Formats: sequence, structure tokens, C-alpha cells
Amino acid sequence: MERYDPIPLVAPLRQSDIVAAAKAVYEEMDTRRSVRTFSDEAVPREAVVYAIRAASTAQSGAHRQPWTFVLVRDAETKRDIRVAAESEERKNYQGGRLPPEWRQALEPLGTDWTKPFLETAPWLVVVFEQRYGVTEDGDRFHNYYVKESVGIACGLSGGTVVSQPWRPSRGPSGSSRAPRCRHNSKGSSARWSTAPSSVAVLSPPSRSLEVCRPA
Ligand SMILES: Cc1cc2nc3c(=O)[nH]c(=O)nc-3n(C[C@H](O)[C@H](O)[C@H](O)COP(=O)(O)O)c2cc1C
Repeated sequence: MERYDPIPLVAPLRQSDIVAAAKAVYEEMDTRRSVRTFSDEAVPREAVVYAIRAASTAQSGAHRQPWTFVLVRDAETKRDIRVAAESEERKNYQGGRLPPEWRQALEPLGTDWTKPFLETAPWLVVVFEQRYGVTEDGDRFHNYYVKESVGIACGLSGGTVVSQPWRPSRGPSGSSRAPRCRHNSKGSSARWSTAPSSVAVLSPPSRSLEVCRPA
């Protein structure tokens, strides 16, 4: 198995710089907010792919990267997803599947069972967790901390896309000075291959997949 080397300890910052660095990160993170209204305006596929790549930089249990991202732009598939999601959410909100306490907690957010935005947004990113992996020989192997790992990846991805319009200007690109860490065991360069009928697959090692049936 290929060895994974963590990044070395970099020269410690001065005390005052540590605080400034921590404050800058906090201020950046504090610009992220949930957005519950969506535009149907086209978004370049490349931008969404970068969001997925940002997600794939997440730390994960035993570095297994136990996720699959499926990128959907096909109108019919989006409609199917909306119908399925609304059917489940209707059971949650109206069918009593969510206990009253939970529904009460959701009230201030104003969410309900309807999900029209699943058809409005130009892209949907469907995220699957890989509860186990499969070797090339078809044998199963364990993944670890799957939900935690996938949750962190989703958080990174959402932070990339959702908060952009609200971000203050960042000044000179000092924030990317930190040493970059390899984010998969075979190197960080994901390879895109485009198969016939508009199905593009982001092949391993990043284990992401895109399905773009022509509308
Ligand atoms: C695990 C998790 C599940 C969430 N589920 C929903 C959801 O189903 N619908 C929704 O509109 N927001 C959902 N949110 C977003 C939270 O409501 C939101 O993060 C919280 O209200 C704080 O608002 P902010 O993101 O603007 O800081 C979820 C967030 C997390 C972390």
C-alpha cells in the first residue's frame, strides 16, 4: 500500500501572527450562510466541479474518502429527484414522521416539504456515502467514520459555493500560503474522461462521478 505522508510542521508563527491568522480564518468562515432561494441562471460546470474538488480535499477516516458526488443537470432527472424528495419530506412535515419537537425547531427556518428549488437550480450535486469500499476483485473493505467524513466534505463544498456572493474582497492572495496537502493517495490530479452521450466520469482516485444526460 502506498505510504501517506502528512505535511511537516512548518515554522511556528509569532504569537501576534497566530491570533491574526486565526481571526482571519474566523472572519472568512463567518461570511458563510445558508441560502434558500435559488436562481435558474446558468453556472459554468467548471465552477461546480471546483466545488466538488474542494469537497474532496476534506479529511476522512483512514483517508478513505468514502463519498461519491453525482452532478445532475438533466431536467427530467432533477424533476424525479424533486418528486422523490418531496414525497419523503411530506411524510416528515405533514405525515407526523418528524416528532413535534423537531418540527418546532425547524419553524424559525421556514422550511417545509416543498422543494421547487430542486428544479430551479441549474445543477444538483447528489452526495452518496460509501459505507464500504469494493476492491477491483470485488471484495468489500471497511470504510471508517463515513458519516463524519461525508459531512465534512459536504460542508467544505457548501462553503465554497454558497457563501461566495457574500464574501468581502479578500485582498492579496495571502490566504493560500498554507502548504497544500495531497488529498488522495495517488496524487491530487483528478482525471476527467468524457464518454459518449454526455456522461462524464471523474475517475478514481477522487471517486466522483458526473451524470449529465442531455435535456
Ligand atoms: C446536518 C445539517 C442538516 C441541515 N438540514 C437542512 C435542511 O434540511 N433544510 C435547510 O433548509 N437547511 C438545513 N441545514 C442548514 C441549517 O439550518 C443552517 O446551517 C442553520 O440554520 C444555520 O444557518 P446558516 O447556515 O445560515 O449559518 C442543515 C444543516 C446541517 C449541518
